[in-house]
Amino acid sequence: MSDKATLEVNGEKYEFPVIRGTENEVAIDIKTLRSSTGGIITIDPGYKNTGSCESAITFLDGEKGILRYRGYSIEELAEKADFLEVAFLLIFGELPNKEQLEKFHTDIKSHSVVDDDVKKILDAFPKSAHPMGVLSSLTSALTAFNPSSVDVNSEEDMYNSIVRILGKFPVLVAWTMRKKHGLPLEYGDDNLGYVENVLKMMFKNPNREYEQNPILVDALDKLLILHADHEQNCSTSTVRITGSSHAGLFVSLASGISALWGPLHGGANQAVLEMLEAIKEDGGDTKKYMSKAKDKDDPFRLMGFGHRVYKNFDPRAKIIKKAADEVLGNLGVEDPILDIAKGLEKEALEDPYFVDRKLYPNVDFYSGIIYRAMGIPVEMFTVMFALGRLPGWIAQWREMRLRKEPIGRPRQLYIGETYRAFKTLDKR
Ligand code: ACO
Repeated sequence: MSDKATLEVNGEKYEFPVIRGTENEVAIDIKTLRSSTGGIITIDPGYKNTGSCESAITFLDGEKGILRYRGYSIEELAEKADFLEVAFLLIFGELPNKEQLEKFHTDIKSHSVVDDDVKKILDAFPKSAHPMGVLSSLTSALTAFNPSSVDVNSEEDMYNSIVRILGKFPVLVAWTMRKKHGLPLEYGDDNLGYVENVLKMMFKNPNREYEQNPILVDALDKLLILHADHEQNCSTSTVRITGSSHAGLFVSLASGISALWGPLHGGANQAVLEMLEAIKEDGGDTKKYMSKAKDKDDPFRLMGFGHRVYKNFDPRAKIIKKAADEVLGNLGVEDPILDIAKGLEKEALEDPYFVDRKLYPNVDFYSGIIYRAMGIPVEMFTVMFALGRLPGWIAQWREMRLRKEPIGRPRQLYIGETYRAFKTLDKR
């Protein structure tokens, strides 16, 4: 294949380099498009064809259903690694050895206290506030309590900001849930593993000791790993673009949390459960909802189905479906909505509408069923996604800063009014 692409506009020919990634993906490098053509740009709403960066963190092949972090398959990582190892791998590029992992965890634990004044901010939110809005606000507010996290002029500064947020974020996650449920706000326990600590902070009853349930620890570990990164998705691109203005890490993450909130992205896990509940309440008639999903005059979409990049099975969905069976079985939970979900999946996979459009279950189709079995309230599902995605966002932000990427600033094609003279109020 030629290593050049030729573009012809109004009889003029322009050449652009063709570059390849390590997995042989091909891209036309149009960095000089405007300067060489006298201002021509490309239009690509939703960035369906646009690579915003070169990245060495996550590889995914949506046609083949492959997902790898730093070269390691998601299947192996979900099976053999724990969340903190995966966080280290994503952020620093290699699996940690024992000493590196211990140091990483110790450094994170040294930042596991959130300033007590943050509780006052939390207190000002109504109990009805959605936890994602609260989490985004508190993550942003952390900057005020840790101003040194903004100016990162060295890798050491970056490291300090990274371990700080990895230490404090689970506290915020737990507090958003406890506030909603009227429970006292607790700090963690440095003797526990990262995931065990999260569970204790979320679920500890003030009147009794918290007993760890290894089934819950395993399930959460796996779910967090599966959500830990997914290359340039909506929230990650948001983190990178916010950070590209050299705004601090914490506010860049806060903007990512807001982007994740939407039901077309991370908010889908909550939307899936609400949809399955609604189908159950409506008598379990999955066919009715399949018809609604296919009706172009009906805004209803089958939540948890379809993906911008996967046009084959989302490999995470396969692992999560299996885990849902195991976790519910191990916990002795029988949940009728698991059967409704499986029924919907079966019907969709046999239906030409879904087959033709290559719509398969995505990561969120079964995750909510596991979260619910674990006792996590539905409005917290997207918060749990954010907890899992945290190392991915951090890794992408760090990569963007280390590569000294320019500020993100897309162009547009203006389609509004041309110049018109101002009319005073009496003439309008
Ligand atoms: N139910 C019914 N039809 C769907 C669905 C769905 N869930 N998803 C896509 N389609 C249809 C569209 O109507 C469109 O049909 P058309 O070609 O006849 O117009 C076609 O499939 C292509 O859909 P697009 O919206 O163009 O695909 P896009 O890549 O822009 O969107 C998205 C992907 C947003 C994930 C979409 O599939 C969707 O809304 N899914 C439901 C929400 C969801 O589960 N989101 C979570 C994604 S995973 C994540 O972010 C963690």
